Amino acid sequence: MSRVAVIGTGYVGLTTGACLAHLGHAVVCADIDQAKIELLQSGRIPIYEQGLEALVADGLATRRLQFVVGAAQAVEDARAEFVFLCVQTPQGPDGSADLRYVEQASAEIGPALATGAVVITKSTVPVGSARVVERALARTDVAVVSNPEFLREGQAVHDCLHPDRIVIGSDDQAAAAKVAALYQGLNAPAMVTDPATAETIKYACNAFLATKVSFINAIANLCQAVGADVRDVVLGMGYDKRIGFEFLKPGPGWGGSCFPKDSRALVRIAEDAGYDFELLKGVIAVNDLQFRLLADRIAELAGGAHTNPVVAVWGLTFKAGTDDLRDSPAISVVERLLAGGATIKAYDPTVNRTLPAHFDHLDIEVCDDPYAACAGAAVLTVLTEWDEFRWLDFEKVAGVMAAPAILDARNLLDPISLRRRGFVYEGLGRK
Ligand code: UDX
Repeated sequence: MSRVAVIGTGYVGLTTGACLAHLGHAVVCADIDQAKIELLQSGRIPIYEQGLEALVADGLATRRLQFVVGAAQAVEDARAEFVFLCVQTPQGPDGSADLRYVEQASAEIGPALATGAVVITKSTVPVGSARVVERALARTDVAVVSNPEFLREGQAVHDCLHPDRIVIGSDDQAAAAKVAALYQGLNAPAMVTDPATAETIKYACNAFLATKVSFINAIANLCQAVGADVRDVVLGMGYDKRIGFEFLKPGPGWGGSCFPKDSRALVRIAEDAGYDFELLKGVIAVNDLQFRLLADRIAELAGGAHTNPVVAVWGLTFKAGTDDLRDSPAISVVERLLAGGATIKAYDPTVNRTLPAHFDHLDIEVCDDPYAACAGAAVLTVLTEWDEFRWLDFEKVAGVMAAPAILDARNLLDPISLRRRGFVYEGLGRK
């Protein structure tokens, strides 16, 4: 059992803290937001993560998990041997990662650290950030280790407790071994490398996954043009073990709080190092184009943008299984439809009628049931792959729409049964 402090209680920090407590460590999590800490202390969590609420409740009950306000407070209360930095690293206007929160947290915990403590960067930070943290800590008797997270939103607990691998970046072998020992309970290989390499691994993984998605979106567009079926193309590709089936589902494009930020940050990191990352720029360009292509196809199916159609939108979150609207492709497509004069009525199982403040520029009607969103619509588009959409009553949907037309941007629905019900059905690269 080790004594751990976790700074930041977002989906990375809260998941990391709760899982380390689950593994038997004594964990104190800190945030600057008093209200959030009080909510967590009461056993409720502000994010939509499968299994996390139960883990937090467990940790509170066994007193292995505590929540306090302030990073230094957590380090002191935990008598921390390890401190995880899980604060946000937002994207700066020029695409670079903004490290001010990492630096602030490091400066705050520096004086509170015991000799020999290990500070661990868990948030995705640019290559070379370990040095930035060392400077901000202003301590020569503690170690800084990179231990990037590979947590998917919605499956963060699963990914934390069942990692494919643990990546540890440190020039201090003893510190690296101590961090690896934290994860002893997990059945996963741990690799130790230098900090810059560990930080690069994280960016390279996200960039490659985004590349796979952009690639299959481009192939879906090609299938649409040549009359091929992308689902069978993916089947034919995926059996090749070198390709696999993961991250080959066509959609409205990739989004969320990581891919857009990390892909642009990596282009910028490369530029600053004198390398022009053309391939990744292309991956980003294909993704941005996908939003426009999709908005154009939806408007066309609705009878043309000039008709100012009513468009029903099912799904606003960046993917199913989360309530996160940050950089959601669905929002990007909706913005383009609004700019073209459409009226939008939307439904998403996790979004209530009033959108978060950050989205109040969107003049859309958010309905509390999927059929209400379809009333009078010239077209229905599925932008997020919520499984519940597959089981709705499409006779009822056809009955309330102005015209039964669907653009299924996640290839979620069944074209044959919908066409049998009189729908005009279009998917992405599907016959
Ligand atoms: C990602 C990485 O998967 C994770 O390892 C990293 O730690 C954080 O970033 P996340 O941002 O939660 O996780 O989303 P992910 O599940 O990777 O999906 C990213 C985007 O790609 C979503 O918009 C999703 O809808 C899209 N996607 C994913 C597709 O369009 N098709 C696919 O086949 C897979």
